[in-house]
Amino acid sequence: MRVITTIKEMQNEVLKHKRLGQSIGFVPTMGFLHEGHLTLISKARKENDIVVLSIFVNPLQFGPKEDFSTYPRDFDRDCALAEGEKVDYLFYPSVDEMYPQGPSVKVVVQERTDVLCGKSRPGHFDGVATVITKLFHIISPEKAYFGKKDAQQVAVIEGLITDFNFPIQLIPVDIVREEDGLAKSSRNVNLSPEERKQAPVIYRSLENAKRAINDGENNPVVLTSLIKEMITGESNGQIDYVEILSYPQLRPLEKIDGSFIIAIAVKFSKVRLIDNIIIQ
Ligand code: PAJ
Repeated sequence: MRVITTIKEMQNEVLKHKRLGQSIGFVPTMGFLHEGHLTLISKARKENDIVVLSIFVNPLQFGPKEDFSTYPRDFDRDCALAEGEKVDYLFYPSVDEMYPQGPSVKVVVQERTDVLCGKSRPGHFDGVATVITKLFHIISPEKAYFGKKDAQQVAVIEGLITDFNFPIQLIPVDIVREEDGLAKSSRNVNLSPEERKQAPVIYRSLENAKRAINDGENNPVVLTSLIKEMITGESNGQIDYVEILSYPQLRPLEKIDGSFIIAIAVKFSKVRLIDNIIIQ
């Protein structure tokens, strides 16, 4: 595995592989890798000649009161894990390399941002779309791998690929969970031991809602109340949102029908956790 820190060198390497007709699979991350990331990488490994992993904690997608400075980082550990997954290139640029004069142009996401994380984190998806546009240009992959844990991110990137005509196939990957159901996340290490014990209630509440749906409940208001009661009853977490929306359009629903997502964000003392289930 080669670690590359400059855009120019990354582009030169990509060009060499393109000339040889080799396919490139790309996994963008912010590092502090866990099994969720590794699942994306191993899928990319199976489906492409060359695998590029990026690690870049992107300041543009963090709000002023968010956890950019405390976002967990451990480059040596990440390197060893990436090496274990047979990554060919680890692209690891600095903030200066990516935004030498601060961003002079930014991508603004117009649709599907008035709900969920787009609503509670203003500007977040503009930051994601801007960095992904840059990374797509630098790496020019045939396939890019994204986790369904960030379901709204998947929907936004689908829109970006379509609107900006990137010849890239987005491959969505299922959520990887801890044994107790908590969705794996780099941020889980910033939960206190007590919060870590409580956090699996998020997934239990989703499972509970799914059972209620199977038993015939189809009113989103009833279902979201059920979820909220369970989370507030069994944890100290503050609910940021519980929403049930059509998927992938992310439009409000009068009653449960078709393909939809139940999505949750809960704030603990230092961490905000998200989770969801998509039901067809
Ligand atoms: P990050 O949170 O590091 O996640 C990188 C990728 O891993 C995302 O596509 C995310 O959905 C996926 N992922 C995280 N946890 C997962 C889990 N438990 N199961 C399956 N996939 C999981 O998402 C970002 O970084 C950034 O926004 C990024 C796309 C890199 C742009 O900066």
